Amino acid sequence: MRGVTVRDALDGAQTAIGASGSDTARLDAELLLAHALGVNRAALYSDPQREVTGPAVRTYQDLVRRRSVTHEPVAYLLGSKGFRSIDLEVDGRVLVPRPETELLVEVALGLEPGSRVLDVGTGSGAVALALKHERPDLEVTASDISSAALELAQANARRLQLDVSFFEADLLTGLDGDWDAILSNPPYVAERDSASLPADVVAHEPARALFGGEDGLDVVRPLVEAAAQSGAKLLALEIGAGQSDEVAKLIDEAGFERTSRHSDLAGIERVVVGER
Ligand SMILES: C[S@@+](CC[C@H](N)C(=O)[O-])C[C@H]1O[C@@H](n2cnc3c(N)ncnc32)[C@H](O)[C@@H]1O
Repeated sequence: MRGVTVRDALDGAQTAIGASGSDTARLDAELLLAHALGVNRAALYSDPQREVTGPAVRTYQDLVRRRSVTHEPVAYLLGSKGFRSIDLEVDGRVLVPRPETELLVEVALGLEPGSRVLDVGTGSGAVALALKHERPDLEVTASDISSAALELAQANARRLQLDVSFFEADLLTGLDGDWDAILSNPPYVAERDSASLPADVVAHEPARALFGGEDGLDVVRPLVEAAAQSGAKLLALEIGAGQSDEVAKLIDEAGFERTSRHSDLAGIERVVVGER
């Protein structure tokens, strides 16, 4: 790639990445090139004839190869992902935070001042840390069954200087707390749907962060039960497309008095809330 312009570098990578199955090939190429050059994406648009030279050439080629040949998620290649108003470090230990999960944080913004909140299955810390960032008055705790994920979540909390407590736990087992609200984006993909997931997701994101058994609700069911028994006044769960009726029924039957559903920007009922 000696002497190529930004435009040519992007066109070539877009072709390779697109051929490997990414639906966002141009965006992927732009993010990777901006990362290799140490600039933001806007700089690529303002100077498309700029030459890509020096060590950035090798760095970019390597990133494009990893994206198109081994299907590594762009966020892992960049090492970070924006989520609401914070940037989280991410790697193969955690799920890449998704834009639709921002809705879970939005739902929690309405909590009473000083509420005690637990984020179950925190992964990178996305929900807990974004919430603490936007509502410093809340007492936020985060848990995960994965010690590897917790290491990264704690590193994110330290870097962002956010005061969140972290615990390793299987759902609420062994957690001592009097929560006002429990939030969770649990693993909810049905095993039978794994073939429909993009190649980069299946190959690189932790299976335990994705799959919830045959119908996707193997973690949701015990979580709803445990949340009901904990006495929390509010439970908010992110769910998959088509799961809202079943999950609202579970929450209702567990003893929450009111359920509500919140749709994401694609119009999919993405968060179910139980309150009492
Ligand atoms: C879909 S990911 C969500 C990660 C993060 N909250 C986010 O939204 O980006 C689900 C997380 O739940 C964790 N998890 C899976 N089973 C669990 C369990 N039984 N108890 C606690 N955490 C669990 C996984 O390790 C993973 O980090």
